[in-house]
Amino acid sequence: MTQSLRVNKQRLMGFLNTLGTFGALEGGGVCRLALSAADKQARDWVVSQMQALGLTIRIDQIGNVIGIYKGQEDVPPVMMGSHIDTVATGGLYDGCFGVMAGLEVISTLKDSGITPKRPVAVAFFTDEEGARFAPDMFGSLVFQGGLSLEEALAIKDVDGFTVGEELDKIGYKGNAPVGCFEVDTFLEAHIEQGPVLDKEGIKIGVVESVQGISWTEFTIEGVSNHAGTTPMSMRHDAGLVAAKINVFAREVAHKIGGSQVATVGYISCKPNLINVVPNHVVMTVDLRNTDNDVLKQAETLLFDYAENTAKEEGVKISRRKLARFDPVYFHKEIVDLVEQEAEAAGLNSKRMPSGAGHDAQILKEMCPTAMIFVPCKDGLSHNVKEFTEPDDLEAGANILLSVILKRANR
Ligand code: GLV
Ligand code: MN
Ligand code: MN
Ligand code: MN
Repeated sequence: MTQSLRVNKQRLMGFLNTLGTFGALEGGGVCRLALSAADKQARDWVVSQMQALGLTIRIDQIGNVIGIYKGQEDVPPVMMGSHIDTVATGGLYDGCFGVMAGLEVISTLKDSGITPKRPVAVAFFTDEEGARFAPDMFGSLVFQGGLSLEEALAIKDVDGFTVGEELDKIGYKGNAPVGCFEVDTFLEAHIEQGPVLDKEGIKIGVVESVQGISWTEFTIEGVSNHAGTTPMSMRHDAGLVAAKINVFAREVAHKIGGSQVATVGYISCKPNLINVVPNHVVMTVDLRNTDNDVLKQAETLLFDYAENTAKEEGVKISRRKLARFDPVYFHKEIVDLVEQEAEAAGLNSKRMPSGAGHDAQILKEMCPTAMIFVPCKDGLSHNVKEFTEPDDLEAGANILLSVILKRANR
């Protein structure tokens, strides 16, 4: 019976497109930063869909939301999920696909009158993106016990608002305690956010691992002075040091090679005027590698270079760790199951690491976990043009359904 069970593509696309209206940007894409007004609207709508499905809803003290579909036995659920916050220039699929595919899987079970042995749940976690509050994935991190609730509530955004204040403002500081919810299995369906599946014409990415992430913020303090009168030899230019660090980050990635990537995604420069030497820069560097030792090497190279370059220019530099996650490897049993179910469905698949960070890498510490990737057109993500073909989303959701059923009925 379960062999022929299939998700409803129209309904899945309806879920995704409706979710994409909250925080929609003119011309396409979404801006739904964690705990913003748009995030509240999206959360309210997803919760209303969970209610319509008759799920038991659990909102915890850090704003993670879980909808639970009853099983025959009162045991920990087999859980699906991801996030619904976005970067400021996000698309409709990053994170949202995993949550909407979860809603669709449960809708399909309900339509078919199936009550699996174990409960089946769908979750969305607070601030996976880290685009407003760092570290990224702090919702799942608190859920899993890797960060204390108090520390997470005190995190500030660039305007000085704390997570605690913003959770209160949108009404999502729930009552359910963090750190005491058992999960049997976790599955996160997600767009690849890279070009491999699209380029190679592969339908299902069987994700074996997630690369390590290192986020650093540098603050550089120089002296602002007149652009026309200050001799080049007498400058203490914070902007120049920032530019050199940016170029060096790229060089480090090339020198190390392999999976090493390096990105300077944020630079704020003061006073930011054409005829004034900059005196204050805040900038971020994002380094990632599948090998933790190599990632540490990249960090050392970068930090040493930043110190030396600041010294040469006569400016002060300080650094702050925004996030640091070691690479993780998912559970073989679940990874194998994803691959088997793709094969059984006649879909070609490829084992691969994830280049992006995901809540699954945090949940992995709690229970058997894996991820299912679907292609992403031209590998574009964290971009308003992010797109995945509906047929590919449907295929990924069907694999999610069959893996979830296997785990829930075992
Ligand atoms: C978040 O999406 C990240 O991987 O940076
Ligand atoms: Mn994501
Ligand atoms: Mn993302
Ligand atoms: Mn991510």
